[in-house]
Amino acid sequence: MSNIKWLWGYLKKYKWLYGAGLLLLAIFSVLSLYVPQILGRLVDDVIMAENTDLLKPLLLSLIAATLFRTSLSYMHSYLQEKASQNVIHDIRTNTYERLNKQDFPFFDKNRTGDIMARMTGDMDAVRHLLAHVIPQLLKGIVTLIFAIWMMLEINVVFALCIFALSPVTCLITGKFAKVILPTLQESRHQFSRLNTAVQENVSGHRVVKAFANEDFEIHKFDKENEAFKEKNLNISKMWEKYLPPLDFMVNLVFFVILLVGGYFVSKASITVGELVIFQGLAHRFNMPMRMIGWLTSDFQRFNASSSKIQELMYAEPKIKNVGIRLNDLDIKGKVEFKDVSFAYRQNVVLDNLNFVIEPGQTAAFIGATGSGKSTIMNLILRFYETDEGLILIDRINIKNIDLKTLRDKVSIAMQDIFLFTDTIKGNISYGVPDASFDDIVKVAQIAEADEFIQEFPEGYDTIIGERGVGLSGGQRQRIALARTLLKDPDILILDDTTSSLDIETEFKIQKALQKLNRKRTTLLITHRISSVMKADQIFVMDRGRIVERGTHNDLLKKKGLYYDVYMNQMGDFNQSSDTKEVI
Ligand SMILES: Nc1ncnc2c1ncn2[C@@H]1O[C@H](COP(=O)(O)OP(=O)(O)OP(=O)(O)O)[C@@H](O)[C@H]1O
Ligand SMILES: [Mg+2]
Repeated sequence: MSNIKWLWGYLKKYKWLYGAGLLLLAIFSVLSLYVPQILGRLVDDVIMAENTDLLKPLLLSLIAATLFRTSLSYMHSYLQEKASQNVIHDIRTNTYERLNKQDFPFFDKNRTGDIMARMTGDMDAVRHLLAHVIPQLLKGIVTLIFAIWMMLEINVVFALCIFALSPVTCLITGKFAKVILPTLQESRHQFSRLNTAVQENVSGHRVVKAFANEDFEIHKFDKENEAFKEKNLNISKMWEKYLPPLDFMVNLVFFVILLVGGYFVSKASITVGELVIFQGLAHRFNMPMRMIGWLTSDFQRFNASSSKIQELMYAEPKIKNVGIRLNDLDIKGKVEFKDVSFAYRQNVVLDNLNFVIEPGQTAAFIGATGSGKSTIMNLILRFYETDEGLILIDRINIKNIDLKTLRDKVSIAMQDIFLFTDTIKGNISYGVPDASFDDIVKVAQIAEADEFIQEFPEGYDTIIGERGVGLSGGQRQRIALARTLLKDPDILILDDTTSSLDIETEFKIQKALQKLNRKRTTLLITHRISSVMKADQIFVMDRGRIVERGTHNDLLKKKGLYYDVYMNQMGDFNQSSDTKEVI
């Protein structure tokens, strides 16, 4: 879709507002050309004719024209700004909505910084086109047409002498815009690199301090800062190079006006007043010539930015939501994998998985780090799409279930916890915003979070910082668990949710979960044998495959990988008790 056509799609709604702004601007531009006319008449009819009768009306019309122009200028700026702000508001809202529809593979591919740049800098380039470039272009065209016409009316030869100089001015500004555009872009890129450096330093300040790497960070920033200074110096060097020839051209035009105009006045071909008008018109005629290069470069910037925004808006999510909305889908909770294989791009992570988890069962996944446990859960929630095989919930292919329904029925406490800058209450009720306070407290109690929350002076109204700063790792895990439990899902997934908790607290949570009347399918990922011993089924994963399966006792009897891990962990336990005794 062409960029202008795309923009028109949004501008259409405000076309009268924007059009009215442009109309007022056109009137303003024509009116500006009448000021030299009045000045010319002042010279001819008042000063040269030594007739003061016309002085008052001419001065009054000059004041009236100036006042009228000022109010027109205010009104057209207001209307244009209002229309362009509205357009950008709509584009921003739309882009944000589309962004929220994007899937995991999209966020794997696009860096946060790039997305942020599109939502801010690129949006501004589009606004700039509407609020500045198009109005300036219109003003330039109207001024050019009327100035040329008025100059030709006074004296054709004189006008042609001035026109002859304009291609040179155009050429210089065009060349200037061409060379300065990449330099300006480099400076903008460097500015975003500088921003990223600061942003990373601030968000990663704990790591920086932990490694006592402040000097390294300062050095890294210095490098970016120095580069930014250089880029900006380059821009001023270009100004220094191109401003003198441009100034020379302005002076040359005035020199030609005086020379040729003086000659015509001496020959009585034009009056002194007409020479004054000419001088005023030539000045206004020159402006669009000087602007043309800038406007072209601004237009190029708009083109690049709007393409980037559209890329973001129209990126087709790989996960298609073609399922039926089954609001009253009564899920029993059977989860089935049939010959499922999956690769993140080329990297095969799951290799031909087959398993069935019956409704109400607790299934535990255990295995080395990177063996694909979290990936299984990502597939059940359709964060990624399977390459081969079928995933069924209650014998329904999950691709046929509406995404919202699926994610309402299956709820996950993720391994990588993210908490919002909000109150604890707000964070727990994130998935169920209209939950009652009693329900919030109830799930917090199950997650063993109520006690520490109550200890905060502001209890559940305590605001937690960015990503949960102000809480310990275990506290964050328990809030995340409460958040997941509040959704009361039919299938509950706990991905390493209790890894930061001591065994006793973990045990209490497990007991509380078992005590709930609700019989739900639970998928548990953990590295601790003690947490999986009671599971109905245990799957041992190794490099994307299930290498052992069964209950705790079955697996111990096999004396395979599970047995080794068990012995290792129990060995550690025995060792630590030995140490205790020694101490
Ligand atoms: N978004 C991703 N893009 C590309 N590769 C990924 C992505 N997420 C995970 N992987 C890779 O897939 C493999 C399996 O990762 P997964 O997170 O499923 O492991 P895991 O068993 O949950 O490990 P852990 O116990 O450390 O949580 C790893 O090799 C990992 O590098
Ligand atoms: Mg994992």
